[in-house]
Amino acid sequence: MKLGMNTNSVTKVTVAKTLLPAGMNVLEGEFEVTEGGPDCDREYLLEMVAGSAALIADPTVPVDGEVLDAAGSELKVVANYAVGYDNIDLGACASRGVIVTNTPDVLTDATAELAVGLTFAAARRIPEFEGELRAGRWTGWDPGGYRGIELTGCTIGVLGMGRIGRRYAEIMSGVAGRILFWSRSGLPAVEQELGARQVGLHDLLAESDVVSIHVAASPENEGMIGSGEIAAMKPGSILVNTARGSLVVASAVAEALASGQLGGAGLDVFENEPEVPRVLLDAPGAVLTPHIGSATFRARDEMARLAARNVREVLSGRDPVTPVG
Ligand code: GLV
Repeated sequence: MKLGMNTNSVTKVTVAKTLLPAGMNVLEGEFEVTEGGPDCDREYLLEMVAGSAALIADPTVPVDGEVLDAAGSELKVVANYAVGYDNIDLGACASRGVIVTNTPDVLTDATAELAVGLTFAAARRIPEFEGELRAGRWTGWDPGGYRGIELTGCTIGVLGMGRIGRRYAEIMSGVAGRILFWSRSGLPAVEQELGARQVGLHDLLAESDVVSIHVAASPENEGMIGSGEIAAMKPGSILVNTARGSLVVASAVAEALASGQLGGAGLDVFENEPEVPRVLLDAPGAVLTPHIGSATFRARDEMARLAARNVREVLSGRDPVTPVG
């Protein structure tokens, strides 16, 4: 008998939507793996998940009671193919005895690096000015032209000091004059190690030249950066979001970019992806990327491997590698 197989039937693993070969290799030969593919919609998922022992779901796939019931009583693990798991109904999983896992650590550097990239791209308006050049509108070196915001010596505000927020702070500390952070938990060790100061949300917003969001999405955090919070920020400051779109009110960001209250914004995530609000597409100084925080060759391979290892461990009767909660 192969590992992970029961005596009379093959153990079924469903992937919604696709798993990179690095993950497939972990499962190959041990399980019957069915991929929904990029077009896998809800209806198809409800059909194909029936009888699965494991479901690998990416962050675009809501996993709720209906999906779990469609899978049936064989389901033992939902392996989220992401570190953020706001797409998973944890209560519905717990009440059915289904283990939930995610992919922390392996994408920390990649996501923090993108946040750093967006910070500089927004400060110097790199995509917009590149567009000017490509459109043939650049007429030569101009002392007053194409100016942006210099970050050396600035105050960086980190909202949420988990793994990614911390790595972002570490990288930015090479440039920043000081680093402030906000976290719901007290983190005196981080204050010491990073030389960063933990402050209240209002102080962070009022004092930072750049605010970068690294909190997990949850119902209590929904819209935590709206028009009131943006009005409390320093005029001309920069907002960066590589966490989740639901944390920020997009229309408030667009209005603040138009009025100059925000000097720039770097946004990698949106509330109803892949939809991007028209107001953001039209907003001056908005640098917009298609949810690519973890999209490095290394991180995406490692995420696939980790999601698959979580499945393999649970279906083999062992503890998951990276359980949620
Ligand atoms: C991606 O968005 C992730 O949460 O890993």
